[in-house]
Amino acid sequence: MYNIPLILGVSGASGLIYAVRALKFLLDADYTIELVASKSTYMVWQSEQNIRMPIEPDQQEQFWRQQAGVEVKGKLRCHPWGDVGANIASGSFRTLGMVVIPCSMGTVAKLACGLSSDLLERSADVQLKEGRKLVIVPRETPFSLIHLRNLTALAEAGARIVPAIPA
Ligand SMILES: Cc1cc2nc3c(=O)[nH]c(=O)nc-3n(C[C@H](O)[C@H](O)[C@H](O)COP(=O)(O)O)c2cc1C
Repeated sequence: MYNIPLILGVSGASGLIYAVRALKFLLDADYTIELVASKSTYMVWQSEQNIRMPIEPDQQEQFWRQQAGVEVKGKLRCHPWGDVGANIASGSFRTLGMVVIPCSMGTVAKLACGLSSDLLERSADVQLKEGRKLVIVPRETPFSLIHLRNLTALAEAGARIVPAIPA
């Protein structure tokens, strides 16, 4: 059991299966997960899989556990995308760091500018300012020069850029 939580950020890019698989691995390994999905994530679930992701945190926890197929191991707490007053929005809340998977180019741009306009962005911004681990799993192809510049800015700020490149 890992008592210090890891934040899992899910943004509105294709490839939500990456988030589901990451969550399955982490819960099976008994990590404590604070999960925040951006507003666009709801639309992508709907468009790509005709699945409605619940908004209410307890229902969302059940939803993610069902998707991941993990009913018991590891704690999971889901946060509403707009709740910028949540624990994970504060630097004084200790974490192991944060993984944003999949990470849309919209979120890459907003993180590169430090916008913090929703809970996912704010939590990622906090990891950077506190010098904690931030892993970005970008999902787009091809990358434009703007995407590459924003990813470079995040790498310069200390984020690890880990593109999902299936064999
Ligand atoms: C079905 C669907 C698939 C999308 N796939 C991607 C994608 O793979 N990569 C990306 O950068 N944006 C993708 N988008 C666009 C983003 O959802 C959009 O830019 C959104 O504003 C991102 O918001 P967020 O970064 O706050 O989640 C997709 C949108 C939809 C509706």
